[in-house]
Amino acid sequence: MPNVSMGTANSGWRGSRVVRYLLLLVLALVAMEYLFGSILDASVLRSIRHLHNDSQSSFYAMRFNWAKQMTKTTQDKNNEAESVTVNKTIDINIDNEATEKDNTIYLASRIEEGLTNKTIEKLISNTTEPPLPLCEESPSDLGPIMANKTELQLDYVETKYPEVDPGGLYAPPNCTARHRVAIIVPYRDREQHLAVFLNHIHPFLMKQQIEYGIFIVEQYGNKAFNRAKLMNVGFVESQKQKAGGWQCFIFHDIDLLPLDQRNLYHCPEQPRHMSALIDKFHYKLPYKDIFGGVSAMTVEQFTKVNGFSNKYWGWGGEDDDMFRRLNKMNYHLTRYDDLSIAKYAMLEHKPSVANPKRYQLLTQTSKILKSDGLSTLEYKLVKVTQHHLYTLIVANIDEPS
Ligand code: BGC
Repeated sequence: MPNVSMGTANSGWRGSRVVRYLLLLVLALVAMEYLFGSILDASVLRSIRHLHNDSQSSFYAMRFNWAKQMTKTTQDKNNEAESVTVNKTIDINIDNEATEKDNTIYLASRIEEGLTNKTIEKLISNTTEPPLPLCEESPSDLGPIMANKTELQLDYVETKYPEVDPGGLYAPPNCTARHRVAIIVPYRDREQHLAVFLNHIHPFLMKQQIEYGIFIVEQYGNKAFNRAKLMNVGFVESQKQKAGGWQCFIFHDIDLLPLDQRNLYHCPEQPRHMSALIDKFHYKLPYKDIFGGVSAMTVEQFTKVNGFSNKYWGWGGEDDDMFRRLNKMNYHLTRYDDLSIAKYAMLEHKPSVANPKRYQLLTQTSKILKSDGLSTLEYKLVKVTQHHLYTLIVANIDEPS
């Protein structure tokens, strides 16, 4: 009996010893796995996971590395805006599509598309290229030019000037422009003039090495033409189109073609009347205070005077009103000392119907300046279209503002 009990005790002791050895062995194996990481071969498990997730995991790795790389390059360039653009591009490709499609191969191909995206290409090329030198204030080879007034097809003109970007936007390729200029052109029913104007103005402006955009602001409907209100709309809408905004505004009649490239389309310290001498007026200034045709104002000047009046329906007076606004706000009108630079050719057209109320309106300018202009501008934006050589802004300005 005791043997039996002894035997049971021995076998229990032996059993617990085996368990202890096994425990030690397991602990030793775990320690080795921890130190060397190669004892428990999990390759089978890994390959199964790999089959399912291969594209997705590399996809996320790409995303991570790319984001890191982008942050670095953009930090190097100290350019936050571009970093945002790139991250946004990538995120669209990943997050939206991933949840919708749940297809890793599809996602991988989408990210590759994202990587070849133009924004990124531009950013990469930007990081490798040294910054361009500043453009000359007044390039040395500027001089008098001829105007070609002969009829042209708009479609044909739109095939010219490949160096201009869609929307009629341009920046010099070999230097950094000193001036960012929006050309605002009030417009209705003058397609023939538009073609001739674009054909003339693009090479003229490119030669001056400025950054510019051409904005044609078309009045919707049949109400009397309101040039001044259209220019207010052009100011507001063109600013929305430009990151950082335009600094200088040239308000430009569509029937006027500059005849001297030295007539620089910049904004000097005071507002400038550009179109001083017009062939139709025998190259003579009609009167000293005239501010019509083509005029240049900075953002600051234009906003300080509350833009143009919105009240001038029909031909005439709105430019005289602006002259009064400028005086009221202590600006003064300037022109080139050498007036021969400010020569223009005028395109033929039927005379417009004059506004009989203009003289009466002009007596109120200084009193109502603050309550008539940009601050009270109302319009309905019909559409904004980017053509090759211009941005077309169509607005219904009929509301009484
Ligand atoms: C009108 C202006 C116009 C000028 C030259 C003036 O009588 O009020 O609007 O620019 O004539 O034509």
